[in-house]
Amino acid sequence: MDPIAYVNGAFVPLREAKISILDRGFLFADGIYEVSAVLDGKLVDNESHLARLERSVGEIRLPLPETIARIKEIQHELISRNQLKDGLVYIQVTRGADVGRDFAFPKGVKPTLMMFTSVKDIVNAASAKSGIGVITVPDIRWTRRDIKSVALLAQVLAKQAAAEAGAGEAWMIEDGKVTEGGSSSAFILTRDDVLVTRENSSAILPGCTRKAVVKLAEERQLRIEERAFTIEEALKAKEAFITSASSFVQPVVKIDGKPVADGKPGPLAQRLREIYIEFARATGT
Ligand code: PDD
Repeated sequence: MDPIAYVNGAFVPLREAKISILDRGFLFADGIYEVSAVLDGKLVDNESHLARLERSVGEIRLPLPETIARIKEIQHELISRNQLKDGLVYIQVTRGADVGRDFAFPKGVKPTLMMFTSVKDIVNAASAKSGIGVITVPDIRWTRRDIKSVALLAQVLAKQAAAEAGAGEAWMIEDGKVTEGGSSSAFILTRDDVLVTRENSSAILPGCTRKAVVKLAEERQLRIEERAFTIEEALKAKEAFITSASSFVQPVVKIDGKPVADGKPGPLAQRLREIYIEFARATGT
């Protein structure tokens, strides 16, 4: 079956979906995106992703061309048209296609809204069982990482370096501390059983999965500290893991080739993964 995408009001075969070469997303990375997981045909934690979409577009003064209610309908229509059971729904909104290449906001140009789905079996991913290795790279991004902007070149380079090193993710380092993964939030479990993840600020994207996992962990009386950590601390930790819409919770077993604890997926990371999947199934929309 040919996948169906949505572009500016129309449902079209993905292969035929087109955007102008003058689109500001293409020319300036002047746009915002969101990724929601789909599990058993239902969107996972979607309200949280759409709330972040509204916040991100607000931060760059980009008006959404459709209401959030309509965006939700389009997400569901895409899931249904593509008969998607397990995967992702991608949303991108840009400041539209002007007649030229002026940096300042164009007047009277309608923002571009496009969405598509992809198939991904996140629950049964082999890397969730084996755990992943991460490499460290300097965080060379801009200083408004709380905005989910489509300007992802730093992450493209970071994740390419990880792929070339046979690792599953890159942890980005700033001032000696981990900010986050190329496309995920970073956690460790210290020797004295404190779950540590960096506090939200403009230094990181406020991860929706991170937020849900912190809440689920708090409800289970786990001790949590929201603060930055170093790689030295991560290498001394009992466990490490990442969270994201596209991976849920995945154990990290190696950092720059060195094992975390015994180099095996940690029990808490595995338990939190199960708890998150239960939450995702119970609350899917
Ligand atoms: N990435 N940090 C960064 C830099 C990210 O790009 C992402 C998500 C996260 C995790 O956020 P969430 O839990 O809301 O997915 C953290 C998505 C999945 C992507 O770019 O494909």
